[in-house]
Amino acid sequence: MLRTEVIRVDAKAPEADAVALAARALARGELVVIPTETVYGLGALADDADAAARIFEAKGRPAYNPLIVHVASVDEARALAAWWPAHAEALTRAFWPGPLTVVVPRDASKVPGVVSAGGATVAIRMPAHPVALAVLRALKRPVAAPSANRFQQLSPTTAAHVLKGLDGRVSMVLDAGPCERGIESTVVDCTGERPAVLRHGSITLDELRAVVPTAVEVRGDGAEDGAALRSPGMIRKHYAPRAKLVVVRPEALYDALRATPGRVGLVTHHQDYTATATVLSVALPEDPKGYGARLYAALHMLDDAGCEVVLVEAPPDDGAWAAVRDRLARAESS
Ligand code: TXA
Ligand code: MG
Repeated sequence: MLRTEVIRVDAKAPEADAVALAARALARGELVVIPTETVYGLGALADDADAAARIFEAKGRPAYNPLIVHVASVDEARALAAWWPAHAEALTRAFWPGPLTVVVPRDASKVPGVVSAGGATVAIRMPAHPVALAVLRALKRPVAAPSANRFQQLSPTTAAHVLKGLDGRVSMVLDAGPCERGIESTVVDCTGERPAVLRHGSITLDELRAVVPTAVEVRGDGAEDGAALRSPGMIRKHYAPRAKLVVVRPEALYDALRATPGRVGLVTHHQDYTATATVLSVALPEDPKGYGARLYAALHMLDDAGCEVVLVEAPPDDGAWAAVRDRLARAESS
Protein backbone atom coordinates (compact mmCIF):
# COMPACT_ATOMS: atom_id res chain seq x y z
CA MET A 1 0.00 0.00 0.00
CA LEU A 2 1.14 3.49 -0.86
CA ARG A 3 0.31 6.52 1.21
CA THR A 4 -1.93 8.51 -1.11
CA GLU A 5 -1.35 12.23 -0.84
CA VAL A 6 -4.40 14.41 -1.57
CA ILE A 7 -3.55 17.96 -2.63
CA ARG A 8 -6.20 20.67 -2.95
CA VAL A 9 -5.74 22.79 -6.06
CA ASP A 10 -7.61 25.77 -7.40
CA ALA A 11 -9.64 24.50 -10.39
CA LYS A 12 -9.33 27.76 -12.32
CA ALA A 13 -5.84 28.91 -11.29
CA PRO A 14 -3.86 25.85 -10.16
CA GLU A 15 -1.02 26.58 -7.71
CA ALA A 16 2.38 26.17 -9.39
CA ASP A 17 3.87 24.14 -6.52
CA ALA A 18 1.07 21.54 -6.60
CA VAL A 19 1.36 21.29 -10.38
CA ALA A 20 5.15 20.84 -10.12
CA LEU A 21 4.78 18.12 -7.48
CA ALA A 22 2.35 16.21 -9.68
CA ALA A 23 4.54 16.59 -12.78
CA ARG A 24 7.62 15.37 -10.88
CA ALA A 25 5.80 12.31 -9.51
CA LEU A 26 4.58 11.46 -13.02
CA ALA A 27 8.09 11.93 -14.42
CA ARG A 28 9.32 9.36 -11.86
CA GLY A 29 6.82 6.87 -13.29
CA GLU A 30 4.29 7.20 -10.44
CA LEU A 31 0.49 7.24 -10.63
CA VAL A 32 -1.18 10.63 -10.15
CA VAL A 33 -4.93 11.28 -10.28
CA ILE A 34 -5.75 14.45 -12.19
CA PRO A 35 -9.07 16.28 -12.56
CA THR A 36 -10.40 16.76 -16.10
CA GLU A 37 -13.58 18.49 -17.25
CA THR A 38 -15.24 15.06 -17.72
CA VAL A 39 -14.15 12.80 -14.84
CA TYR A 40 -11.00 12.34 -12.74
CA GLY A 41 -8.24 10.48 -14.64
CA LEU A 42 -5.73 7.93 -13.31
CA GLY A 43 -2.55 9.31 -14.92
CA ALA A 44 0.85 7.85 -15.76
CA LEU A 45 3.50 8.55 -18.39
CA ALA A 46 2.14 7.44 -21.77
CA ASP A 47 5.59 7.15 -23.36
CA ASP A 48 6.91 4.77 -20.68
CA ALA A 49 5.67 1.17 -20.86
CA ASP A 50 6.41 0.38 -17.19
CA ALA A 51 4.60 3.47 -15.92
CA ALA A 52 1.58 2.86 -18.16
CA ALA A 53 1.43 -0.79 -17.07
CA ARG A 54 0.97 0.38 -13.45
CA ILE A 55 -2.39 1.89 -14.45
CA PHE A 56 -3.78 -1.55 -15.34
CA GLU A 57 -2.56 -2.94 -12.03
CA ALA A 58 -4.04 -0.12 -9.91
CA LYS A 59 -7.38 -0.22 -11.73
CA GLY A 60 -7.60 -3.99 -11.93
CA ARG A 61 -8.21 -3.40 -15.63
CA PRO A 62 -7.59 -6.18 -18.15
CA ALA A 63 -4.73 -5.53 -20.58
CA TYR A 64 -7.02 -5.77 -23.62
CA ASN A 65 -8.70 -2.45 -22.72
CA PRO A 66 -6.62 0.42 -24.20
CA LEU A 67 -6.00 3.81 -22.53
CA ILE A 68 -6.63 7.39 -23.64
CA VAL A 69 -3.47 9.50 -24.01
CA HIS A 70 -3.77 13.11 -22.84
CA VAL A 71 -1.80 15.91 -24.51
CA ALA A 72 -1.50 19.69 -24.22
CA SER A 73 -1.89 20.58 -27.92
CA VAL A 74 -2.88 19.34 -31.38
CA ASP A 75 0.81 19.33 -32.34
CA GLU A 76 1.65 16.95 -29.50
CA ALA A 77 -1.16 14.66 -30.62
CA ARG A 78 0.04 14.69 -34.20
CA ALA A 79 3.52 13.68 -32.98
CA LEU A 80 2.09 10.47 -31.48
CA ALA A 81 0.29 9.41 -34.67
CA ALA A 82 1.78 7.37 -37.52
CA TRP A 83 -0.21 9.71 -39.76
CA TRP A 84 -2.79 12.34 -38.96
CA PRO A 85 -6.19 11.80 -40.62
CA ALA A 86 -8.09 14.77 -42.06
CA HIS A 87 -11.08 14.01 -39.81
CA ALA A 88 -8.82 14.15 -36.75
CA GLU A 89 -7.56 17.55 -37.88
CA ALA A 90 -11.08 18.93 -38.43
CA LEU A 91 -12.54 17.54 -35.20
CA THR A 92 -9.64 18.47 -32.92
CA ARG A 93 -9.55 22.01 -34.36
CA ALA A 94 -13.24 22.32 -33.49
CA PHE A 95 -13.41 20.60 -30.10
CA TRP A 96 -9.99 20.80 -28.41
CA PRO A 97 -9.33 21.46 -25.69
CA GLY A 98 -12.44 19.50 -24.72
CA PRO A 99 -14.25 16.20 -24.20
CA LEU A 100 -13.40 14.64 -27.58
CA THR A 101 -11.07 11.65 -27.97
CA VAL A 102 -9.79 10.82 -31.46
CA VAL A 103 -8.59 7.35 -32.41
CA VAL A 104 -5.73 7.63 -34.91
CA PRO A 105 -2.95 5.36 -36.24
CA ARG A 106 -0.33 4.82 -33.52
CA ASP A 107 3.36 5.65 -33.98
CA ALA A 108 4.84 2.63 -32.22
CA SER A 109 8.14 4.46 -31.62
CA LYS A 110 6.31 7.08 -29.49
CA VAL A 111 3.48 5.15 -27.82
CA PRO A 112 4.27 1.73 -26.31
CA GLY A 113 1.97 -1.16 -27.17
CA VAL A 114 0.72 -1.57 -23.59
CA VAL A 115 -1.08 1.81 -23.83
CA SER A 116 -3.08 0.68 -26.86
CA ALA A 117 -3.52 -2.93 -25.78
CA GLY A 118 -1.23 -3.89 -28.65
CA GLY A 119 -3.51 -2.29 -31.26
CA ALA A 120 -2.47 -0.32 -34.33
CA THR A 121 -4.26 2.82 -33.14
CA VAL A 122 -4.03 5.21 -30.22
CA ALA A 123 -6.81 7.24 -28.57
CA ILE A 124 -5.82 10.85 -27.79
CA ARG A 125 -7.48 13.85 -26.21
CA MET A 126 -6.57 17.34 -25.05
CA PRO A 127 -8.56 18.02 -21.87
CA ALA A 128 -10.03 21.47 -21.16
CA HIS A 129 -9.45 21.44 -17.39
CA PRO A 130 -6.88 24.09 -16.30
CA VAL A 131 -5.31 21.67 -13.78
CA ALA A 132 -4.89 18.84 -16.32
CA LEU A 133 -3.46 21.27 -18.87
CA ALA A 134 -1.07 22.81 -16.35
CA VAL A 135 0.30 19.38 -15.37
CA LEU A 136 0.70 18.33 -19.02
CA ARG A 137 2.51 21.58 -19.84
CA ALA A 138 4.83 21.26 -16.84
CA LEU A 139 5.60 17.62 -17.62
CA LYS A 140 6.03 18.14 -21.39
CA ARG A 141 5.19 14.48 -21.98
CA PRO A 142 1.91 12.70 -22.81
CA VAL A 143 -0.12 11.17 -19.95
CA ALA A 144 -2.23 8.02 -20.27
CA ALA A 145 -5.31 8.29 -18.09
CA PRO A 146 -8.41 6.16 -17.84
CA SER A 147 -11.17 7.20 -15.46
CA ALA A 148 -9.83 6.97 -11.90
CA ASN A 149 -12.03 4.12 -10.69
CA ARG A 150 -11.52 0.38 -10.26
CA PHE A 151 -12.44 -1.65 -13.35
CA GLN A 152 -16.21 -1.71 -14.08
CA GLN A 153 -17.08 0.63 -11.22
CA LEU A 154 -18.61 4.08 -11.35
CA SER A 155 -16.45 6.86 -12.75
CA PRO A 156 -15.38 9.51 -10.22
CA THR A 157 -16.40 13.16 -10.48
CA THR A 158 -14.90 14.18 -7.11
CA ALA A 159 -11.69 13.33 -5.22
CA ALA A 160 -13.79 11.53 -2.58
CA HIS A 161 -15.15 9.20 -5.30
CA VAL A 162 -11.56 8.52 -6.40
CA LEU A 163 -10.45 7.57 -2.89
CA LYS A 164 -13.29 5.04 -2.55
CA GLY A 165 -11.52 2.85 -5.12
CA LEU A 166 -7.90 3.99 -5.31
CA ASP A 167 -6.79 5.10 -1.83
CA GLY A 168 -3.43 3.43 -1.22
CA ARG A 169 -3.00 2.52 -4.91
CA VAL A 170 -1.80 5.91 -6.25
CA SER A 171 0.86 8.39 -5.14
CA MET A 172 -1.21 11.52 -5.36
CA VAL A 173 -4.67 12.93 -6.05
CA LEU A 174 -5.07 16.52 -7.20
CA ASP A 175 -8.42 17.61 -5.75
CA ALA A 176 -9.98 20.46 -7.73
CA GLY A 177 -13.59 19.86 -6.70
CA PRO A 178 -16.38 18.40 -8.86
CA CYS A 179 -15.87 17.89 -12.61
CA GLU A 180 -17.94 20.18 -14.78
CA ARG A 181 -19.10 17.70 -17.47
CA GLY A 182 -19.49 14.56 -15.40
CA ILE A 183 -19.73 12.20 -18.41
CA GLU A 184 -16.66 10.84 -20.21
CA SER A 185 -15.35 12.14 -23.53
CA THR A 186 -16.85 11.11 -26.86
CA VAL A 187 -14.52 8.59 -28.54
CA VAL A 188 -14.36 8.95 -32.34
CA ASP A 189 -12.47 6.61 -34.68
CA CYS A 190 -10.86 8.85 -37.29
CA THR A 191 -9.05 6.12 -39.24
CA GLY A 192 -11.91 5.28 -41.62
CA GLU A 193 -13.63 7.03 -44.49
CA ARG A 194 -16.17 8.54 -42.08
CA PRO A 195 -15.58 9.45 -38.43
CA ALA A 196 -17.26 6.80 -36.27
CA VAL A 197 -18.44 7.33 -32.69
CA LEU A 198 -17.17 4.38 -30.65
CA ARG A 199 -18.39 5.73 -27.30
CA HIS A 200 -21.08 8.36 -26.78
CA GLY A 201 -19.95 11.15 -24.50
CA SER A 202 -20.08 14.80 -23.61
CA ILE A 203 -20.05 15.89 -27.29
CA THR A 204 -23.14 14.70 -29.18
CA LEU A 205 -23.29 13.15 -32.65
CA ASP A 206 -25.15 16.26 -33.87
CA GLU A 207 -22.34 18.48 -32.60
CA LEU A 208 -19.79 16.30 -34.44
CA ARG A 209 -21.89 16.39 -37.62
CA ALA A 210 -21.92 20.17 -37.55
CA VAL A 211 -18.16 19.87 -38.24
CA VAL A 212 -17.96 16.63 -40.26
CA PRO A 213 -21.44 15.85 -41.65
CA THR A 214 -20.56 12.23 -42.50
CA ALA A 215 -19.91 11.24 -38.86
CA VAL A 216 -21.71 8.02 -37.92
CA GLU A 217 -22.28 6.00 -34.80
CA VAL A 218 -21.01 2.44 -34.41
CA ARG A 219 -23.79 0.18 -33.26
CA GLY A 220 -24.04 -3.44 -32.21
CA ASP A 221 -21.04 -5.39 -33.44
CA GLY A 222 -19.39 -2.23 -34.68
CA ALA A 223 -19.27 -3.53 -38.25
CA GLU A 224 -20.99 -0.44 -39.61
CA ASP A 225 -19.14 1.69 -42.10
CA GLY A 226 -15.90 -0.24 -41.88
CA ALA A 227 -14.92 1.38 -38.59
CA ALA A 228 -11.40 0.11 -38.00
CA LEU A 229 -12.15 -1.61 -34.70
CA ARG A 230 -14.65 -1.80 -31.92
CA SER A 231 -13.91 0.16 -28.82
CA PRO A 232 -13.06 -2.44 -26.20
CA GLY A 233 -14.59 -0.11 -23.63
CA MET A 234 -17.92 -0.98 -25.21
CA ILE A 235 -18.13 -4.16 -23.12
CA ARG A 236 -21.55 -4.12 -21.50
CA LYS A 237 -20.77 -4.20 -17.79
CA HIS A 238 -19.25 -0.83 -17.05
CA TYR A 239 -19.98 2.33 -15.14
CA ALA A 240 -21.89 0.32 -12.54
CA PRO A 241 -22.97 1.32 -9.03
CA ARG A 242 -23.04 -1.35 -6.33
CA ALA A 243 -26.82 -1.13 -6.13
CA LYS A 244 -28.94 -2.88 -8.75
CA LEU A 245 -29.95 -0.19 -11.24
CA VAL A 246 -33.24 -0.37 -13.14
CA VAL A 247 -34.38 2.12 -15.79
CA VAL A 248 -38.17 2.62 -15.67
CA ARG A 249 -40.56 4.45 -18.01
CA PRO A 250 -41.91 7.56 -16.23
CA GLU A 251 -45.50 6.27 -16.23
CA ALA A 252 -44.40 3.02 -14.54
CA LEU A 253 -42.35 4.64 -11.76
CA TYR A 254 -44.99 4.67 -9.02
CA ASP A 255 -45.81 1.00 -9.56
CA ALA A 256 -42.11 0.08 -9.61
CA LEU A 257 -41.55 1.98 -6.38
CA ARG A 258 -44.43 0.22 -4.67
CA ALA A 259 -43.23 -3.18 -5.88
CA THR A 260 -39.59 -2.76 -4.79
CA PRO A 261 -38.76 -3.81 -1.23
CA GLY A 262 -35.88 -2.55 0.91
CA ARG A 263 -33.99 0.67 0.72
CA VAL A 264 -34.62 2.19 -2.70
CA GLY A 265 -32.94 5.04 -4.52
CA LEU A 266 -34.88 7.04 -7.08
CA VAL A 267 -33.32 9.23 -9.77
CA THR A 268 -35.65 11.47 -11.76
CA HIS A 269 -35.34 14.47 -14.00
CA HIS A 270 -38.62 15.97 -12.86
CA GLN A 271 -39.29 17.60 -9.51
CA ASP A 272 -42.63 15.96 -8.78
CA TYR A 273 -41.65 12.86 -6.85
CA THR A 274 -41.38 12.80 -3.08
CA ALA A 275 -39.10 10.82 -0.79
CA THR A 276 -40.51 8.48 1.84
CA ALA A 277 -38.87 6.72 4.77
CA THR A 278 -37.48 3.96 2.55
CA VAL A 279 -37.06 5.87 -0.70
CA LEU A 280 -34.17 8.26 -1.19
CA SER A 281 -34.98 10.49 -4.13
CA VAL A 282 -32.66 12.63 -6.26
CA ALA A 283 -34.10 15.06 -8.81
CA LEU A 284 -31.53 15.79 -11.52
CA PRO A 285 -31.77 18.68 -13.99
CA GLU A 286 -34.12 18.33 -16.97
CA ASP A 287 -31.43 19.21 -19.53
CA PRO A 288 -29.04 16.46 -20.67
CA LYS A 289 -25.81 18.37 -19.95
CA GLY A 290 -26.87 19.34 -16.43
CA TYR A 291 -28.14 15.81 -15.83
CA GLY A 292 -24.92 14.22 -17.10
CA ALA A 293 -22.82 16.49 -14.92
CA ARG A 294 -24.50 15.12 -11.78
CA LEU A 295 -25.45 11.53 -12.65
CA TYR A 296 -22.35 9.73 -11.30
CA ALA A 297 -22.37 11.82 -8.11
CA ALA A 298 -26.02 10.86 -7.54
CA LEU A 299 -25.25 7.15 -8.01
CA HIS A 300 -22.20 7.36 -5.73
CA MET A 301 -24.38 9.04 -3.08
CA LEU A 302 -27.17 6.44 -3.32
CA ASP A 303 -24.56 3.65 -3.07
CA ASP A 304 -23.04 5.27 0.01
CA ALA A 305 -26.51 5.59 1.54
CA GLY A 306 -26.90 1.82 1.28
CA CYS A 307 -29.59 1.62 -1.40
CA GLU A 308 -30.01 -1.93 -2.70
CA VAL A 309 -31.98 -0.90 -5.77
CA VAL A 310 -31.87 2.36 -7.72
CA LEU A 311 -34.81 3.12 -10.00
CA VAL A 312 -33.98 5.65 -12.71
CA GLU A 313 -36.68 7.47 -14.64
CA ALA A 314 -35.97 6.71 -18.32
CA PRO A 315 -34.50 9.76 -20.04
CA PRO A 316 -35.93 11.06 -23.35
CA ASP A 317 -35.11 9.28 -26.60
CA ASP A 318 -33.38 12.09 -28.50
CA GLY A 319 -29.72 12.35 -29.47
CA ALA A 320 -28.77 14.90 -26.84
CA TRP A 321 -29.39 12.18 -24.20
CA ALA A 322 -27.43 9.41 -26.01
CA ALA A 323 -24.45 9.40 -23.63
CA VAL A 324 -26.68 9.35 -20.53
CA ARG A 325 -28.82 6.52 -21.98
CA ASP A 326 -25.65 4.59 -22.87
CA ARG A 327 -24.20 4.82 -19.33
CA LEU A 328 -27.53 3.88 -17.73
CA ALA A 329 -27.93 0.88 -20.05
CA ARG A 330 -24.45 -0.37 -19.14
CA ALA A 331 -25.04 0.12 -15.42
CA GLU A 332 -28.39 -1.67 -15.74
CA SER A 333 -26.95 -4.74 -17.47
CA SER A 334 -24.38 -5.28 -14.72
O1 TXA B 1 -13.35 11.59 -20.44
C1 TXA B 1 -12.57 10.66 -20.58
O2 TXA B 1 -12.37 10.13 -21.68
C2 TXA B 1 -11.82 10.14 -19.33
C3 TXA B 1 -10.88 11.25 -18.85
C4 TXA B 1 -10.03 10.80 -17.70
O3 TXA B 1 -10.11 11.73 -19.92
N1 TXA B 1 -11.13 8.94 -19.63
C5 TXA B 1 -11.75 7.75 -19.84
O4 TXA B 1 -10.88 6.69 -20.05
O5 TXA B 1 -12.95 7.61 -19.83
P1 TXA B 1 -11.34 5.17 -19.99
O6 TXA B 1 -10.08 4.38 -20.04
O7 TXA B 1 -12.22 4.94 -18.82
O8 TXA B 1 -12.09 4.94 -21.33
C6 TXA B 1 -11.37 4.90 -22.52
C7 TXA B 1 -12.27 4.53 -23.67
C8 TXA B 1 -12.66 3.07 -23.61
O9 TXA B 1 -13.98 2.94 -24.13
C9 TXA B 1 -11.62 2.44 -24.53
O10 TXA B 1 -12.02 1.23 -25.05
C10 TXA B 1 -11.51 3.50 -25.61
O11 TXA B 1 -11.55 4.72 -24.90
N2 TXA B 1 -10.23 3.42 -26.33
C11 TXA B 1 -9.01 3.69 -25.86
N3 TXA B 1 -8.07 3.48 -26.81
C12 TXA B 1 -8.72 3.07 -27.91
C13 TXA B 1 -8.32 2.70 -29.22
N4 TXA B 1 -7.04 2.70 -29.59
N5 TXA B 1 -9.29 2.33 -30.09
C14 TXA B 1 -10.57 2.33 -29.73
N6 TXA B 1 -11.03 2.67 -28.51
C15 TXA B 1 -10.12 3.03 -27.60
MG1 MG C 1 -13.76 4.29 -17.42
